[in-house]
Amino acid sequence: MALRGAVYVNGTIKPAHEAVVPVYDHGFLYGEGVYETLRTYNKVPFLYDRHLHRLRASAERIRLPVPFGDADMASWIDRTVAAAGEMQEAYIRILFTRGVGELNYDPRSTPDPTVVIIVKPLEEPPARVFNDGINICLVPILRNHPGSVNPLIKANNLLNNALAMQEANRRGGEEGLMCNYRGELSECSQANFFMVRGGMVLTPKSEAGLLEGITRAFLFEVGQEAGIEVREAVLTPADLESADEAFITSTTRELSPVTRIDGRPVGTGKPGPITNTLLKGYRARTL
Ligand code: PDD
Repeated sequence: MALRGAVYVNGTIKPAHEAVVPVYDHGFLYGEGVYETLRTYNKVPFLYDRHLHRLRASAERIRLPVPFGDADMASWIDRTVAAAGEMQEAYIRILFTRGVGELNYDPRSTPDPTVVIIVKPLEEPPARVFNDGINICLVPILRNHPGSVNPLIKANNLLNNALAMQEANRRGGEEGLMCNYRGELSECSQANFFMVRGGMVLTPKSEAGLLEGITRAFLFEVGQEAGIEVREAVLTPADLESADEAFITSTTRELSPVTRIDGRPVGTGKPGPITNTLLKGYRARTL
């Protein structure tokens, strides 16, 4: 498999296919680590400060001390982007794990955390996603209980998410929408969920147990600018029946219209006017 791009591992940058992390890394062994996914617009990492802020918050929640400043990280990213070669826009994934150590859960076994930065060409969603929208599936797997691995942590341990996405893919969906332990809607495997009803944009409350997406938070600002009310609500699967429009948000998928849920059309079955206005407003702020 030809892997493109360049990877930074603890100070050394290599072509993607040569980059390795030891098997005794607790990120590999136990999923003990946190990460961020960024993208560039016009070659500049978008909302960098917010991503670094969330990375620190995630690390703190697993008691992983962060031994670098935002400016150090920015310069490592720049070096990795330069090594990755010419590309239109970059996909940037920062991974930060407990590090290499003996096979136990004692943090004293892993004094040096591992820092990895993957840079590769960004694959934008195909035009059909924005023109026609996507089908997503409501999957039976529940989003992690906040008292367990809190979904607020952007953790390298992604089994909950992978199982949800795989179930959705098996059913012909491009995302898996999960409920929480109370049966309320929470979020998708790699994106936040929004629905439009009566001109108002609704998204599950943080308290439902979800990752507070950077794009999600940004969309509240975009909505305000566009004079569209975007607010949190308790939503259940029954609410999906009354959705006029729906969409998902993430760094790499921006705001992708959802026009079918489990194969059934949402509203007219086409990307709706509010979704399109918000997408336009979002993109205007990336220029
Ligand atoms: N995923 N919820 C989950 C579970 C996610 O993994 C993501 C992002 C989001 C959206 O967050 P943001 O707007 O900050 O990208 C919500 C990234 C893109 C990923 O997994 O690579």
